[in-house]
Formats: sequence, C-alpha cells, structure tokens
Amino acid sequence: MITITFITNDGKTATAEPNSNLLRVSLREKGGIPFKCGGGICGTCRCRIEAGLEHTDAVKAKERKHLTDTDLAAGYRMACQTFVSGDVAVSWLPRGPNGKPIGE
Ligand code: FES
Repeated sequence: MITITFITNDGKTATAEPNSNLLRVSLREKGGIPFKCGGGICGTCRCRIEAGLEHTDAVKAKERKHLTDTDLAAGYRMACQTFVSGDVAVSWLPRGPNGKPIGE
C-alpha cells in the first residue's frame, strides 16, 4: 500500500493500492482535492505534488492544456489524470463558494 497526504486538508492521510488514480483516492477517502469533470477537461483538479513527484506517472496531453512546462517542473499535475505508484503529498488552492480558487 502507498500513503497519500492531503496537505491542504490538514495533512489528512489515506492509503491506496499502487498505481491508483489520485483524484479517485481523494474522492473515496474524502481527501478534498477540488474537481468537476474528472476527465481532464475543466482544469479544476490542478494540484501540486509537494513530495513524491517521482512516484507519479507520465504527464498526459490533456494536462498540458492546463499546465505549462514551468508548472510541471514545479510539480503541478491534474489529479484526475495522475496515477501514483508510491507515497506522495499533494496540495491545492482552496476554492471559495464561487468555485474559483481563493486569492485569484
Ligand atoms: S477534474 Fe476536470 S480536469 Fe480534472
């Protein structure tokens, strides 16, 4: 089993099978990563892999529509498109009632 730490959700942790989809684990374990479409379209699930980036799978073409090379180098991924094979810690921008990230 691997451990996923949801930093923005008070550091809540959850365990999952290796090669789990990050957003699915978040949904199942109430990790709190924001999402809408679940299919790589909306961009809502943008998150940052703060630790364990080496445990994430290859970046998908759909992610490149939302993330620049600089974003990717800084560890940003789209949670619905990302599978994790080892421990990771993930953060994201909290969203307000209008669905927009707070501070944007
Ligand atoms: S939830 Fe829409 S892009 Fe991931």
